[in-house]
Amino acid sequence: MPRLSDATRGRVLFGGDYNPEQWPEKTWHEDVRLMKDAGVNSVTLGVFSWAKLEPEPGAREFGWLDRLMDLMHENGIGVVLATPTSSPPPWMGRLHPETLPRDAEGRVEWWGGRQHFSHSSATYRHYAAAITEALAARYAGHPALTMWHINNEYCTFDYGDEAAAAFRRWLREKYGTLDALNTAWGTAFWSQGYDSWDGILPPRHAHYMKNPTQVLDFRRFTSDMLLECYTAERDIVARHTPHIPVTTNFMPLWIGQDAWRWAEEEDVVSVDIYPDPRAPLGAQNGALVQDMTRSQARGPWMLMEQAAGPVNWRGVNHPKPRGLNRLWSLQAVARGADAVCYFQWRQSRQGAEKFHSGMVSHAGEQGRTYQEIKQLGTELARIGGEVSDRHSVSDVAILHDWNAWWAGVQEGRLSTQVDHPAVLGAWHRALWEANVTTDFAHPEHALSGYKMVVVPQLYLLTDAVIENLLAYVRGGGTLVSGFLTGVADEDDRVRPGGMDARLRELFGIRTLHEWWPLDAGETVECDGFRGTLWSEEIEAADEVTETVPYKGGELDGLPAVLRRGRAWYVSTLPEPEALRALLSGIAADAGARPVLAGLPAGVEAVRRGELLFLLNHGREPVTVAVPDTHEDLLTGETVTDRITLGRYGAAVLKP
Ligand code: GAL
Repeated sequence: MPRLSDATRGRVLFGGDYNPEQWPEKTWHEDVRLMKDAGVNSVTLGVFSWAKLEPEPGAREFGWLDRLMDLMHENGIGVVLATPTSSPPPWMGRLHPETLPRDAEGRVEWWGGRQHFSHSSATYRHYAAAITEALAARYAGHPALTMWHINNEYCTFDYGDEAAAAFRRWLREKYGTLDALNTAWGTAFWSQGYDSWDGILPPRHAHYMKNPTQVLDFRRFTSDMLLECYTAERDIVARHTPHIPVTTNFMPLWIGQDAWRWAEEEDVVSVDIYPDPRAPLGAQNGALVQDMTRSQARGPWMLMEQAAGPVNWRGVNHPKPRGLNRLWSLQAVARGADAVCYFQWRQSRQGAEKFHSGMVSHAGEQGRTYQEIKQLGTELARIGGEVSDRHSVSDVAILHDWNAWWAGVQEGRLSTQVDHPAVLGAWHRALWEANVTTDFAHPEHALSGYKMVVVPQLYLLTDAVIENLLAYVRGGGTLVSGFLTGVADEDDRVRPGGMDARLRELFGIRTLHEWWPLDAGETVECDGFRGTLWSEEIEAADEVTETVPYKGGELDGLPAVLRRGRAWYVSTLPEPEALRALLSGIAADAGARPVLAGLPAGVEAVRRGELLFLLNHGREPVTVAVPDTHEDLLTGETVTDRITLGRYGAAVLKP
């Protein structure tokens, strides 16, 4: 199986989406000059080129792409070649309206934007396969080709008729009989029993709350359908070029795709990361996605897209202050990225993204954005040979599963304030601020290699997962779980007692009497800290080792936190400082230490192999004590005892 290292060949890939079809050919030569000056060694071509490649059904216009592939090769720039299937040409919707998706309200998603394709449409799939086949056949032997990029950010839903038929097929495969489906979906409720497969629909607009298991299965189905689109194209390119790695870019922590399953189908796991430069937790947000992607890749991964400056899809879009682009790029490398790429190379002058930054901004070569890109390119070239293909190892795993997320966001839940990614983010933040590096893991993965495993929230758990958690603790592991974990089985059926009995026993919970969600901004006093978002009326079992009680109010004296042996349960979301103290204390007892102790606030330390990355996320210079003597690979200087990092400064230290 080809790997990312087949494309990087000992370097860090540096470059981005290149959309030269938006520019006259003379600009291409200017682009190449600037790319070479900036150390760009990789471009992604063709992401949105379908109408240009196939201007009418069956036509093929490859001349312009031939010239570009040659131009890149002549200049030593590798090409990540995309299949253009995320944005079909207008003729497709006009001639084949069934290729257009419909939303839950039945509205058509017309052409004129992008991603207007139905994952279930046989016609769409036919045309997508044909253009992929033609591209693969034509460029299989081209020396510029380093990687395949299938589609772009698969993220569409379809509630239309063809999708409905595909949903029924998927359900038949899963359940076999209508009886089994009726049981799994709990259709005895509200008179929903199905007497015919034909009666089953996607969860379209309805008068009142929809069947939650139908919605859950529709999410599973959607992820699977998109994955089928991906693997169909992947198989075509892999047949032509078995030695060339294949990827498709994930959106960061996106709800629609079970990225664990998807990652298994990719040679290279890649992701797009766009933290808000103004967000106080932007760096942590990036770190979370980086940790997640590294874990999905089980090794080096590709930062496929980031922004060199502002994006243009937030309400207010801020540029990156001087130095931030470099810092966040090095943060990705620290956390395992072997490719630092952008959307996009040259900022567009037309189209919906003309105010979205590029590596070359409207200000051009003299602009600060390009000048900083150039500096970064030089630095990445300097450190590339040292970092690439090295692994980072973590002692702590955070468990995450899309099924649990999907089931947990249903209508009819007790609190809409509980936001799965926010809870995940809060737990990751606590460990990030304590400088404890974390992996993410699927809850069915082998966990025994971790000193501590945390479960911010897994509302839905299969029996296999429960057994996995029990075995982990039995084997000597330390487990910390947040609230709303183990509530439902895989059909989203509430487990007897409101939480699986085996888990209650594990944590020392005799009875979970009631859930007490908190209003927005409301807090609950606990002994030594305040809880937010949620609280629970729990009666502890006799075997419980330790509890931290709620103080005052309705839950006075009842346990907010319980521990039984090495298994902890936290029934509220402690405020950030308290969660940090709690988790770092448990981590220390479990033998999971921070990368570097005593770091100044805002400084992150990450190990990648034997290299130590130091990243100052603050705007003030800081001095960091460093053990032993190192060489800073960014400057070539020797560092003994301490190093000062400027505003947004970074160092890559080699012993
Ligand atoms: C990504 C997408 C790119 C571009 C970018 C803008 O979602 O893949 O094509 O639109 O966002 O931030």
